[in-house]
Amino acid sequence: MTLQIKSFEEYKAAYERSVQDPEGFWAEQASSFYWKEKWDTTLEWEFKSPSVKWFLNGKFNITENCLDRHLESRGDQVAILWEANDPNAPAKSYTYKQLYIEVCKVANALKANGIGKGDRVCFYMPMVPELAIAVLACARIGAVHSVVFAGFSATALADRIKDATCKMVICSDYNNRGAKNIPVKAIVDDALSQGCDSIETVLVHRNTGGDVNWQENIDKWWHEEVDGQNPYCPAEVMDSEDMLFILYTSGSTGKPKGVVHTCGGYMIYTCFSFRNVFQYQEGDVYWCTADIGWITGHSYIVYGPLLAGATTMMFEGIPTYPDAGRFWEICEKHKVNQFYTAPTAIRALMAHGNEYVNKYDLSSIKVLGTVGEPINAEAWHWYNEVVGKGNAPIVDTWWQTETGGIMITSLAGVTPTKPTYATLPMPGIQPCLVDGDGNEITENDVEGYLCVKFPWPSMLRTTYGDHERCRQTYFSSFTDKYFTGDGARRDENGMYRIIGRVDDVINVSGHRMGTAEVENAINQHPGVVESAVVGYPHDIKGQGIYAYIITADEVNDEDGFTKEIRDVVTREIGPIAKPDLIQYVPGLPKTRSGKIMRRILRKIASGDTSNLGDVSTLLNPDVVESIKEGAKV
Ligand code: WTA
Repeated sequence: MTLQIKSFEEYKAAYERSVQDPEGFWAEQASSFYWKEKWDTTLEWEFKSPSVKWFLNGKFNITENCLDRHLESRGDQVAILWEANDPNAPAKSYTYKQLYIEVCKVANALKANGIGKGDRVCFYMPMVPELAIAVLACARIGAVHSVVFAGFSATALADRIKDATCKMVICSDYNNRGAKNIPVKAIVDDALSQGCDSIETVLVHRNTGGDVNWQENIDKWWHEEVDGQNPYCPAEVMDSEDMLFILYTSGSTGKPKGVVHTCGGYMIYTCFSFRNVFQYQEGDVYWCTADIGWITGHSYIVYGPLLAGATTMMFEGIPTYPDAGRFWEICEKHKVNQFYTAPTAIRALMAHGNEYVNKYDLSSIKVLGTVGEPINAEAWHWYNEVVGKGNAPIVDTWWQTETGGIMITSLAGVTPTKPTYATLPMPGIQPCLVDGDGNEITENDVEGYLCVKFPWPSMLRTTYGDHERCRQTYFSSFTDKYFTGDGARRDENGMYRIIGRVDDVINVSGHRMGTAEVENAINQHPGVVESAVVGYPHDIKGQGIYAYIITADEVNDEDGFTKEIRDVVTREIGPIAKPDLIQYVPGLPKTRSGKIMRRILRKIASGDTSNLGDVSTLLNPDVVESIKEGAKV
C-alpha cells in the first residue's frame, strides 16, 4: 500500500520530499502496486502544449489492482455495500471475490458485443451496483468509459455520445429517485433519435421493471448478455498513458468538454489521496454520497477506495427521501466511519433542523468530508458540531474533474483544520497564487488566481478530440502553469481558502455549469433575442442561476413564458440548469466592442446595486437603470 501519513511532522516531511524529489516520491508510491512491467521513466512533462506523462512504459491493468490483488488477503471482505432508494429494501453487498466475478462476467459480455480496447462506452445509469461493475468491466478490457450523470437530458446525452463516438450505451430501464420513477431507457431512446450513429448496442439493466420500447439488434438485456458469461476475464494489458476514461465537464465557453484521464497516474494518485485524506483503516465503512456521474464518484466511490481495499458504500437515493434523516439513518445502520458529502446537502439538511440528526447514533463517524463548492462558516460549524459532535475532523477537499483527485485539503486528524479553509496542499501538489499580470505572489495573507505549477500524477492529459482546447483553457492564461479557474486566499500560515470561480462557470448545488451553456439553451426558445446568465448567492444551492433575457415581443404572460424558458433549458441540458430567477430586460449592458458587462449583471443579481462602477463608457448606459429597477432580488 501507498504511504499513510500519521502526523503533522510526517506530512511536512512528505511534502518537502515531494517537492524536492517529485519523481522519487511518486516512484515510491507507485512501487506498491501490481505492475506487469515496471515503468522506465517516472515523468516527462511540459505545460506548453501541454504534454504530461507519468510512469512511462509501465504495463498493468487498474482492475487487477482494484480486485485481483485483494482476492487473497480480503476476498471475503465487502467491497461494495449498496443501500437502495427505498428505505425498506434490503441493502446489498459484494465481497471483493463477488465483485471480481461480476466484473469479469460483464467484461466478457462487453467483448461478446464487439467492445474492445480503446472503444468508448457511454453510461447513463442510476446509482446501482451494476454501474460500478460495468465501469470496472470497461477498464478490465481497456474500453474507455464515459459516464453521463443520469440527470442530464436526452439532448445533453446525445451531445456527449457524439463527441466521443461511443459504440455502446449502458443504461437501466427505469430509475427510482426519491418518490420519482424516471424512464431512463426512454431518455436514451430519445438521445439515439438525435443522430448518435456510432452506437451499435444499448445494454439495458432491468432495475425496476416496467415496459420499455425495444429495438431488435440494438437493444440487449443485461441479464441475457451477462448471466451465462465466464467468471474469468483476463485483464487487458494497458500502458500507463492509455486512456482510462472521459468525463464531460462545463467550462466558460461552448459545450462541455471531455476531460481525459489515463491509467497509471490516476491509479496511484486516487489511492494515495484516498488513504491519506480519509485516514481509512482496515475494517472501516466509507461512504461518499456523490453520484458516479461526477468525478467525485469516479475517484472516491469506485477507484480510490477499491484500490485501497476499502469497503465503499453506494447510495441509490437522495438525502431527503423519505425524510431529511435518511443520510443519518444510513450512517447508523451501516456504522459508517468516513462520511463525504457536498456543502449543498449539508445546508439543505441543516435547514430541516437538528432533530433529524439527533435521532440517530452517529458515534461511528470518525471523519467528515466536504467537496464541490466553498463551504460557508455556518454549514461548517453545523457539520462539525451537530453531525460530528466535535469529534470528527472535517476534511474540506478542493479539487476538480480535471485534477482527478483531491488537491488541497486537511488530512483527517493529521493536519490542522480551519473553518471554510481547504487548508494545505497534498504531498506532490504545488499550488500557487498569481496576480492579474501573471506574476506569482509569494507572500502570505493574499488573494489571487489559483494555479498549479508542477504536474501531479492524476492531472488531465487532454480534452477529448480537441487538444488545443485543453491548452487554451488551462495552460494559456499563465505561462507554465495549470490555471484552475478558481480564485483563492492564502492566509498568514499558508492555508488556502477557495473563494470560487473567477471565470464564467457557476457552481449550483455543487454542479458545475457554464453560463454560456445555459444561455445557448435559453436562446433555443424562438421568442428569445439574447440572454445573459450569471450566478447569485443562494442559501442552499450556494449559487442560483439568474437569467436576463431580451425577448422579440413584449412578454404579457410572464409566468407562462418563464415556464417555457425553464422547459427549454430542461430539454437542452437538464433540470439542474433551470434558471431560478428570470428577468426580462430591454437590453444588456455592453461595452463599445459589444461585450456584455457581466460584472454589472452579477452585482445586480447579488442584490447590490450600490456601486456599479463607471457605466458611462457603456454603449447603452441607460439600460442599467432599467435593469436595476426590474431586478428580481
Ligand atoms: C469547486 C468537483 C471550494 C471549485 C470535485 C472547482 C470547491 C470546482 C471545492 C470543480 C471546495 C470543488 N471548496 N470550492 N472544497 N471543491 N470546488 O469539476 O470551484 O465538479 O473549480 O469537481 O468546484 O468542480 P468539479
